[in-house]
Amino acid sequence: MAGAAARGSLRAAGELQAALLEHPVPVTRDGEPEPKALAYLQPLLQTPGRSALAAPLAAVAPGLNWFEPPPGELKQHMGGRNCMTQLVGPADRSTSRGIRFGTFLIAPGAYYPRHVHGAEELYLLIAGSGRWSYDGNTYETHNAGEVVRSASWQPHAIRTDDEALLMAWVWMGDISFDSYRMEADLDDAKEDPS
Ligand SMILES: [Fe+2]
Repeated sequence: MAGAAARGSLRAAGELQAALLEHPVPVTRDGEPEPKALAYLQPLLQTPGRSALAAPLAAVAPGLNWFEPPPGELKQHMGGRNCMTQLVGPADRSTSRGIRFGTFLIAPGAYYPRHVHGAEELYLLIAGSGRWSYDGNTYETHNAGEVVRSASWQPHAIRTDDEALLMAWVWMGDISFDSYRMEADLDDAKEDPS
């Protein structure tokens, strides 16, 4: 497992570097308001203990196409408390049908409910910290510099506490959004087994 995560991390870092080098000109989404959670971006990029990915990202991150996930279950739980980019994917800045890759920012005090998807997922933690729960088990804290892996179809949830969290996210394998399912309901937001 650790070897697979390390290989995935290296591959993801290479994809990020290639995407940033290939498309240095900022792309913004015209006419859409800036996501509220983006206010945490600059402080996160200056956070002590940030990973080596923070420096290349800092040069381009403010101009990337940050957006909040569209209306739906995730917005019910996380509305105003998260935003993301997708740099690599089937129709993105760098085109790939086998991998999706972007950045994901979660504000403090947020709950990303338990969910599943067919894609294998890697989170490369760039700055801040968060807690992950797998298969409904106790939450464990992860910090900048770590790689967190979810296997295909493995239920997982994320919480943030006092700190915000900035990550690169990677989907590999079955990268269709069709398989994405949220398993938790709104009441789960009040529960915390840790
Ligand atoms: Fe996920």
